Amino acid sequence: MGLVIRNGTIVTATDQYVADVFCDAGVIKAIGKSLDVPAGTQAVDASGQYVFPGGIDAHTHMELPFMGTTSADDFYTGTAAGVAGGTTTIIDFIIPNRNQSLLEARDFWMNNAKKSVADYGFHMAVTWFNEQVKKEMQHVFKNDGIQSFKIFMAYRGAIGVDDVELIGVLDTAHDLGALVTSHCEHGDAVVALQNRLAERGLKEPKWHPKSRPSYLEGEATNRVIQLARAASDARNGHDATAAETQPVYIVHLTCKESMDAVYRARQAGQRVLVETCPQYLLLDDSVYEKPDFEGAAYVMSPPIRPKGHQEYLWNALATGGIQHVATDHCPFRQADQKVMGKDDFRKIPNGAAGIENRMSLLYTYGVAKQRITLQQFVDVTSTQAAKIFGLYPRKGAVQVGSDADLVLYDPKGTGRISAKTHHQKVDRNIFEGFELTGKVATTVVNGRVQWQDGDLRVERGAGRYLKRC
Ligand code: URP
Ligand code: ZN
Ligand code: ZN
Repeated sequence: MGLVIRNGTIVTATDQYVADVFCDAGVIKAIGKSLDVPAGTQAVDASGQYVFPGGIDAHTHMELPFMGTTSADDFYTGTAAGVAGGTTTIIDFIIPNRNQSLLEARDFWMNNAKKSVADYGFHMAVTWFNEQVKKEMQHVFKNDGIQSFKIFMAYRGAIGVDDVELIGVLDTAHDLGALVTSHCEHGDAVVALQNRLAERGLKEPKWHPKSRPSYLEGEATNRVIQLARAASDARNGHDATAAETQPVYIVHLTCKESMDAVYRARQAGQRVLVETCPQYLLLDDSVYEKPDFEGAAYVMSPPIRPKGHQEYLWNALATGGIQHVATDHCPFRQADQKVMGKDDFRKIPNGAAGIENRMSLLYTYGVAKQRITLQQFVDVTSTQAAKIFGLYPRKGAVQVGSDADLVLYDPKGTGRISAKTHHQKVDRNIFEGFELTGKVATTVVNGRVQWQDGDLRVERGAGRYLKRC
């Protein structure tokens, strides 16, 4: 049975107009005024509502084994929470252990992801490097459609790489035409600072941000950019031109120092892409002062930054400096997971939930507060991610031929975020109490209504793996 959405205001990264959208067999088949549709077509009235392309979250960690536990949302519950919040595609991370085969890790993650309710792709994290890893990077690029590789400059001693390994990843990705994405923090310095603090008995959650200050993120952001430049120069045997320099994508950028490193590099002709997350736009480091270990809910890396960085990031978003707002969705329950670090912040599993609230938070505090336009909202929540990660125009667009992944957003709706009502499988919400302007009224996934007026009707295993190119 087909689906027709009547009279909505279609908003894309460039346009805004009122029309009907007819979907059949999971694809948008027609867009126009007063469309004639086959008898029996399901109709949804979207008068007064926006019709956005389904949200894409290019940074999630479903059922990630990490820091002695596993993130609390699996691919079923996590993608379902995403659908409730208007996200219809995720790009998660395959993260091999150091010395583990990339292909073995790929099989593990691919198997876990089969229960997804929405379409999903993977970035491949490269956590060590040698000739075997190089061959496996080539293999997953060519055979599995994985066109982005991730390196961690943090988490040294676990999944973090050193600079020589990083150059190996940059070179291999360059030869494939793949993108390198980077978690930027000075990993060795962070470990040293963590240990210094702990030796002095400073082990509560509030010391977590002190062990990883913004300037150590800025240093690593600048370093990966300069290493990409150096590797490009070495390959070319001369100073690489802008077109010859390898682009890098900075994940979850949080601070002024990192943004300034990006601006400087762009000014010098380097291509650098930037992702941030709602928590870095909307929260400040006072959250770590909460009593009774509540600060642990906000322990993530990089940490939430002091006041001032948030407005700097909003400005970067409004002026095209930031391309994508993802979530880094990586939830851990306070009761039995965060508590592992009750006596030592170094043992608190790093991460928080966010996939369910990304779209409405960005609409409320971006569009409704007039910090970004509706078109920019669509661009940073969907279209740019599709373009950067090889999914456009199948995803990220409202076009004939695109996948029928759509969000009907009611700008007159209201809401209030709470762990009591969210679908994420955690007992805390870092945006607890945040008021929302507008609400996700309906989410259409592959041409089927999966969320409507608070009713979640997802289908376990309906999501498809996305090969990207
Ligand atoms: O604290 C975080 N961000 N946990 C997830 C892993 C990562 O660094 O992205
Ligand atoms: Zn990270
Ligand atoms: Zn992450």
